[in-house]
Amino acid sequence: MGEYSGRFLPESLARAAIVEVGRRTYLRGFVAANDGNISVRIGDDLVLATPTGRSKGFIRADELVKMTLSGRKIEGTLAPSSEIKMHLKIYEARPDVMAVVHAHPPICTGFAVAGIPLDKCVLAEVVMTLGAVPLAEFAVPSTQELAEAVAERIRGCDAVLLANHGAVTVGPNPFAAHYSMERIEHLANISLVARLLGGEKLLTKRQVEEIAEVQRASGSSLPPLACKTCADSTCPPEELVGPRERRDGQPAPDFDVALAPMVSEQLLAQVVRVLKEELAEL
Ligand code: 13P
Repeated sequence: MGEYSGRFLPESLARAAIVEVGRRTYLRGFVAANDGNISVRIGDDLVLATPTGRSKGFIRADELVKMTLSGRKIEGTLAPSSEIKMHLKIYEARPDVMAVVHAHPPICTGFAVAGIPLDKCVLAEVVMTLGAVPLAEFAVPSTQELAEAVAERIRGCDAVLLANHGAVTVGPNPFAAHYSMERIEHLANISLVARLLGGEKLLTKRQVEEIAEVQRASGSSLPPLACKTCADSTCPPEELVGPRERRDGQPAPDFDVALAPMVSEQLLAQVVRVLKEELAEL
């Protein structure tokens, strides 16, 4: 399984996790055809990424491309994702990030196409976990401009909508990044239904403070960039950009890498189970 420093997933596990996250991304309808891409940081200067042009539902572990953070290919016969610049720029901007998922989930991408960020205080779970999901301005897919626009936004949060394109989420491991993608698509679904039914009733500032107090009391940290637009306060969108900042004004902690060993054990168990199931189906 290889050496595990406690910060990076062992390569074989990272490969299996990318395969599984790709499969889940495709089966959940978060991408169509060959859309989307996934990467995992497996060393100080090493990243594993999905190859370009393949359906992420059917990627094999040996098809992944190994690269340095500066974009030099180390291993792999296929070309890396066309969005590799965006992934690498995110790792540069956020040294605590260990995995990046890019997808086009239809409802949150609908919000991105309509130019509407998911940054209001509407759901307690999102206030407690993701906070605000801002919108990065449009830039052509695969370009350095897109990489810069996303990296600028991701400095302050763990999920970003890409105007007229899709969404990006980051995490301390590939499953955490995937779960954030699930969460923003769920939030977008609920927000859309609320809008069809007359519009979201925002949580009040007091309610958000109470949620934050419960979160603090349970020993968890608040999301890096809390949603700030409550029922009784409005914040200009510019406030959603900038350094990672908690609602209480303290700097946001990095992802808790101390949890990484536990998470990797769970990952390992999941991946082994999946492989066994797949073998049994043959
Ligand atoms: P790749 O197959 O090159 O990763 O591109 C898919 C995509 O969604 C581009 O935005």
